[in-house]
Amino acid sequence: MHFTNTLLSVLAAAQVLAHPGHDVREEALARRTYLESAKRTNLDHCSAELRARGHEQRGVQRRQALAAANAKRGIVQRAPSDINKTHLSTADFNQNTPLHDVFAVNASCVLSPEVTEGPYYVAGEYVRKDVTEKQAGVPLWIDIDIVDVTTCKPITDVWVEIWSCNATGVYSGVATGAAYKPAPENLNNTFLRGFQKSDADGAVQFQSLFPGHYDGRTHHVHVAVHPSATERANNHTIDDATVSHLGQMYFDQDLLNRVEAVEPYASNHARWTKNAQDFLLAVGLMTSDPLMQYVQLGENLEDGVLAWLSFGVNTTYSKKAYVAATLYEDGGKANSKPPFQ
Ligand SMILES: *[C@@H]1O[C@H](CO)[C@@H](O)[C@H](O)[C@H]1NC(C)=O
Ligand SMILES: *[C@@H]1O[C@H](CO)[C@@H](O)[C@H](O)[C@H]1NC(C)=O
Ligand SMILES: *[C@@H]1O[C@H](CO)[C@@H](O)[C@H](O)[C@H]1NC(C)=O
Ligand SMILES: *[C@@H]1O[C@H](CO)[C@@H](O)[C@H](O)[C@H]1NC(C)=O
Ligand SMILES: *[C@@H]1O[C@H](CO)[C@@H](O)[C@H](O)[C@H]1NC(C)=O
Ligand SMILES: *[C@@H]1O[C@H](CO)[C@@H](O)[C@H](O)[C@H]1NC(C)=O
Repeated sequence: MHFTNTLLSVLAAAQVLAHPGHDVREEALARRTYLESAKRTNLDHCSAELRARGHEQRGVQRRQALAAANAKRGIVQRAPSDINKTHLSTADFNQNTPLHDVFAVNASCVLSPEVTEGPYYVAGEYVRKDVTEKQAGVPLWIDIDIVDVTTCKPITDVWVEIWSCNATGVYSGVATGAAYKPAPENLNNTFLRGFQKSDADGAVQFQSLFPGHYDGRTHHVHVAVHPSATERANNHTIDDATVSHLGQMYFDQDLLNRVEAVEPYASNHARWTKNAQDFLLAVGLMTSDPLMQYVQLGENLEDGVLAWLSFGVNTTYSKKAYVAATLYEDGGKANSKPPFQ
């Protein structure tokens, strides 16, 4: 795998450390190192196999059903893209447009490229589809499916976890609040984190909220695949740091611009890093398209967004994630060992 100098120049231009004690540039370089050793960096080679197996078709049906169950009015579709494509050609699908056409857009495919989890991974979180709790924000339905990059078969019956910050840029479960201020009371929060088990098509679905932004990163949702996790005895939470895939899912800049224009996002005055300035997205874009495809579930953005993405996963690769904190029955406890040292 060869890279142009783009990444190096992006990294050289870096001015901000996104998190105290955590350098996004190091994270980007670690990811690049992984990509250089990877033989496959997208799922293009699986396309025929997946279509033959009916996998793509079932993905269409799955997203269609999820949208039908949650759409407020007509579904508004926008095309997927790479970072700089705009979507002025937005088509407003009317009642007569077969939903199948809306969801038959080729899903973006990215290989398990990320080797770092960022400083906000919390273990011990809940098994649940709906991770919204009482948070405010634009509804975001997520449909992810995972495929073994070597065999081109869906990865079934494994736990898939997502986590993201809330509309005003705060991650739950860690001792850090808005603007990186210490917030020990935040350790007991669990919003926008959860696990689902992949089905026969390697798919999981979550009901979440559109993430906001925080200084140093563009909007993103983390995803991790846990190949060998089991539920705790309470059957509601999972404490496992072994992951075979860590990734981040991104969104079109024009969608982000519209999200940031509505409350409570609009009240978040943290510095806003755009897609074009994000180091980790820059690395992701070198080999794949980690921007989610999506439809709007009604005329208004506030009606919600359904976004989807296929991930190729290298199952021979697994690592221990750095655990910033762990959720126990008696609340969250921070890890005393700082990350990346
Ligand atoms: C999977 O990961 C291993 C270890 O990083 C790497 O050597 C191998 O090339 C990867 N396989 C593919 C298909 O990318
Ligand atoms: C995308 O657009 C930005 C801002 O105009 C520019 O700096 C960047 O080089 C472009 N990236 C690509 C991959 O074309
Ligand atoms: C999807 O991608 C495959 C492989 O890149 C291509 O052959 C096929 O035509 C695409 N299908 C659609 C509907 O764009
Ligand atoms: C995000 O979480 C923080 C910490 O709990 C909270 O103060 C803030 O109100 C939340 N933002 C929204 C939009 O709910
Ligand atoms: C957890 O699930 C298993 C299997 O369904 C069941 O046997 C066990 O009783 C459950 N434990 C609790 C604490 O609910
Ligand atoms: C978290 O919740 C537990 C159990 O309810 C409580 O004992 C603890 O004081 C709480 N921790 C914080 C930081 O609020």
